[in-house]
Amino acid sequence: MESRLANLESQASILEPDAAERRHLRDAVVSHAEEFLEGLEDRLAYVVTDHKGAGLSDMPIRETGRAIEDLLERWTHDVEVPGLNPASGGHLAYIPGGGIYPSSLGDYLAAITNRYAGVFFASPGAVRMENLMVRWMADIIGYPEGAGGDLSSGGSIANLTAIVTAREAKGVDSERVRRSVIYATEQVHHCVGKAIGIAGLKEAPVRRVAMDSRFRMEPEDLANQMDRDREDGLDPFLVVASGGTTDTGAVDPIGEIARVAKARDAWFHVDAAYGGFFVLTPEAPDPIRELHLADSVVLDPHKGLFLPYGSGALLVRDRELLYKAHRYDANYMRDTHRSREEPSPADHSPELTRHFRGLRLWLPLQLFGVAPFRACLSEKIWLTRYFYEKLHEIPHMELGPDPELSVCLFRHVPPGKDADAVNARLIEEIQSDGRVFLSSTHVNGNHWLRLAVLAFRTHRSTVDRALDVIRALVDKEARS
Ligand SMILES: Cc1ncc(COP(=O)(O)O)c(C=O)c1O
Repeated sequence: MESRLANLESQASILEPDAAERRHLRDAVVSHAEEFLEGLEDRLAYVVTDHKGAGLSDMPIRETGRAIEDLLERWTHDVEVPGLNPASGGHLAYIPGGGIYPSSLGDYLAAITNRYAGVFFASPGAVRMENLMVRWMADIIGYPEGAGGDLSSGGSIANLTAIVTAREAKGVDSERVRRSVIYATEQVHHCVGKAIGIAGLKEAPVRRVAMDSRFRMEPEDLANQMDRDREDGLDPFLVVASGGTTDTGAVDPIGEIARVAKARDAWFHVDAAYGGFFVLTPEAPDPIRELHLADSVVLDPHKGLFLPYGSGALLVRDRELLYKAHRYDANYMRDTHRSREEPSPADHSPELTRHFRGLRLWLPLQLFGVAPFRACLSEKIWLTRYFYEKLHEIPHMELGPDPELSVCLFRHVPPGKDADAVNARLIEEIQSDGRVFLSSTHVNGNHWLRLAVLAFRTHRSTVDRALDVIRALVDKEARS
């Protein structure tokens, strides 16, 4: 047995590279990352390739390892190049963010030390750090002392956790699902619909609340629908508003909706995954300052704080309700009960073992302070206004509502042509040109183009580039 153990230990020892080998691996990766960052300005925002990363299949996992140089080459060719480049300032589609550098170092340290931030007993410092980050976000939206939350992997999971909390807080069991009504506009993010299904609420009636001409929820229609449902013997249970819709950047009138929901004893949730962090800016529309009136709020640091993907956040006004909906115990966890000075993230989330996400958020906020984040967010609002203004100068542009945050809707409607076909062509050409990456959507039955400014590397020169690309394509369309 001894010789078998020695043999296995010797074979497995490759899993613990020595200092020289670590330096070799690290230097290769870091110099590759540096080359990527230094060349970023010249890289396309979208790259069309024939192979679409298929070469990865030529390198199957095998019994023996490969050289880091070969792996980085494969990574570059098959992963880094094809498709969207979300690190680029030219990423002006969906909701970008960018991925600020210190977060990658936070992730590196979190992975090297492998701190477990799920339970206070296991890593009190890591848990305190996560809790401090939750408290900081609760403070910026104006939540009171008893608020709590969770650092999630993204907005979808944070919305799901909020909806489960609402379901538990309002006692919606299987008997009550069919009469527990949910209210949202057509513009609510699709992950909310997904969360409703996953939370076991598929059979709950979902009402579409009317919107004004700027795609914002009409509180009066909400109140009427809730009252009608109550008269019909149903229970208005959950209202979901948006603190910045993805499609149009609209901010629902959060204060008014809060009053309607509260008067009718419904849970009020705001999905502010996109727009929530604009609360840091003086330009934020008033309803963003009313997020504290909601029972729960979702923010997405991998959007509005420019973190790399993998960081969402849920805030709940009454932490106890989040705890009651997610706390579980197990015999083998009994030792953890000895140390309970701070709430444990595992008691406020569906996750037990999880990535230590607090560090990737804490490190950049501590290193840089809040001011540059505020400036960067304000810049995004002004860049969108600038783009919107410049679009007016391009012939036959139909513009959506003037932007409240940093999303701008527009479409080209040259006389005598099928506008939907023209815009479908335009977006395809913008994307295959690749200098900037925009996306399209369907609103009120028409094909619209969208520009979403939230990548921290997007500046005036990037928006000018987008305008140049659009002008050139519009000219080309006029000549065709
Ligand atoms: C308003 C809004 N809510 C939720 C989400 C989903 O968040 P995530 O992609 O982080 O899961 C998004 C994503 O774009 C969003 O814009």
